Amino acid sequence: MSLAVLYSRACEGINAPLVDVEVHLANGLPALAIVGLPEKAVQESKDRVRGALVNSRFEFPARRITINLAPADLPKDGGRFDLPIALGVLAASGQISNEALNQYEFIGELALSGELRPVKGVLPVALAARDAGRALVVPQESAAEAALVSGIDIYPVRYLLEICEHLTQGNQIPCYTAPPKSGRTTSSLDLSDVRGQLHAKRALEIAAAGNHSLLMIGPPGTGKSMLASRLPSILPSMTEAEALETAAVLSVSSHGFNAEHWACRPFRQPHHTASGIALVGGGSNPRPGEISLAHNGVMFLDELPEFDRRVLEVLREPLESGHITISRAARQAEFPARFQLIAAMNPCPCGYLGDSSRNCKCSADKVARYRDRISGPLMDRIDMHIEVPRLPTALLHRSTDEFIEESASVRRRVETARNRQLQRIGHKNSAIGRPNSALSSREVETVCALDDAARTLLYRAMEKLKLSARAYHRILKVARTIADLDGHNAIQIAHVSEAIGYRRLDRQE
Ligand SMILES: Nc1ncnc2c1ncn2[C@@H]1O[C@H](COP(=O)(O)OP(=O)(O)OP(=O)(O)O)[C@@H](O)[C@H]1O
Ligand SMILES: [Mg+2]
Repeated sequence: MSLAVLYSRACEGINAPLVDVEVHLANGLPALAIVGLPEKAVQESKDRVRGALVNSRFEFPARRITINLAPADLPKDGGRFDLPIALGVLAASGQISNEALNQYEFIGELALSGELRPVKGVLPVALAARDAGRALVVPQESAAEAALVSGIDIYPVRYLLEICEHLTQGNQIPCYTAPPKSGRTTSSLDLSDVRGQLHAKRALEIAAAGNHSLLMIGPPGTGKSMLASRLPSILPSMTEAEALETAAVLSVSSHGFNAEHWACRPFRQPHHTASGIALVGGGSNPRPGEISLAHNGVMFLDELPEFDRRVLEVLREPLESGHITISRAARQAEFPARFQLIAAMNPCPCGYLGDSSRNCKCSADKVARYRDRISGPLMDRIDMHIEVPRLPTALLHRSTDEFIEESASVRRRVETARNRQLQRIGHKNSAIGRPNSALSSREVETVCALDDAARTLLYRAMEKLKLSARAYHRILKVARTIADLDGHNAIQIAHVSEAIGYRRLDRQE
């Protein structure tokens, strides 16, 4: 037998399409060729495989070796095919048994010594292998990540020799038994660290409950960054599916996934000098950007007007669709990007407009230019804007603030309100539940119906405060979330009036 076929997987966005690794030995001058759109790292695989085989005391066949990675039009990158290529060479030359190979999928990079090195993107591979009903052989260091997927046998391997013995002599390597998933690890950041700012905390709770985007405006040092970084601590727990998706994005990113962060909602805070590519992802071998790393979590844009306007504009599409497609010359990749946008800004360039403690030095013109840096369409996608004013110093020092509440108790209210939303929409349309922020305009009509008194109030407010027509739907959705937090099926006048209060910037138009 001079042909061996093994299964492995490539990396495309957060998917892991199947790759057949075919190894054929033919008579002729000794040579080794890899075909099937391999990138440079895969081409170099030849040398690593040769070194690893020789150092593991195998014979490197002195024949004409052709390795075909199929399908040929799928780009293949990285050292992940080293292991299946090495095993393919051994099987095709009769040095290991060919029999059981098709029950497994293989992935791993080889060191010249025959040791296996971890690879990126193992989690999506494990998901796909499970769906295909095959066991997965991975480098030892990648096993914990692969084992986050339940219902699949994972074989952790340290050396090439180990897996060869396993394949030839039968089950030598025990299946990896994953430690129980830790679930949500409690963050060290707690909402109770923030003194005062009850209005802002209430807004944060509403934003958390309905997955609403929020812009905080206030002078320097009033706690805006503090509040934003504590939002994940009050968000509802992740479902298994959500946790897997978020982990899969991290798994294919350059950061890699740390199994300790399982089911923790991500919090990303890109700097305002970040480029468009850093934010939405890209590169010749497309990698996820900040918006995808924040999938199912929070993206915090601090000092919003300092961001390049063009960079912010690229956020508009994923904010609506919840995913991003990156097209590069040879390849295309899609990453999920359903994130909650939280932003903060000072009211003016010097930061002290409307602050009682200091005088603002900015002219009206300068303030207008500063605010204009954020485009209308982006502002349109932000549900709530609030002021975070300076606290009286006495309140900051008070050690026993009677209104201090811990994140855990706020989160319980948020979870109850979110469950109401998920059941309501899921039940009616028999689709997966969605938070209020994701209601379509047709759903808003039915789910956010107002009684006469509430409608009159809203119309009057729109006229008096010159609220834009855009603001209308946002206010209704936020009012729906407030009613959900209140445990009401019908939106009351008080809910609408509170929601109108969260449109601070509209009032100045
Ligand atoms: N409400 C508060 N409760 C407790 N500490 C606070 C509060 N507000 C501010 N602080 C203290 O001030 C520091 C700065 O707060 P933070 O970074 O959140 O301000 P900011 O509003 O984001 O300011 P900037 O506009 O300059 O970014 C915090 O690290 C904290 O020590
Ligand atoms: Mg800040």
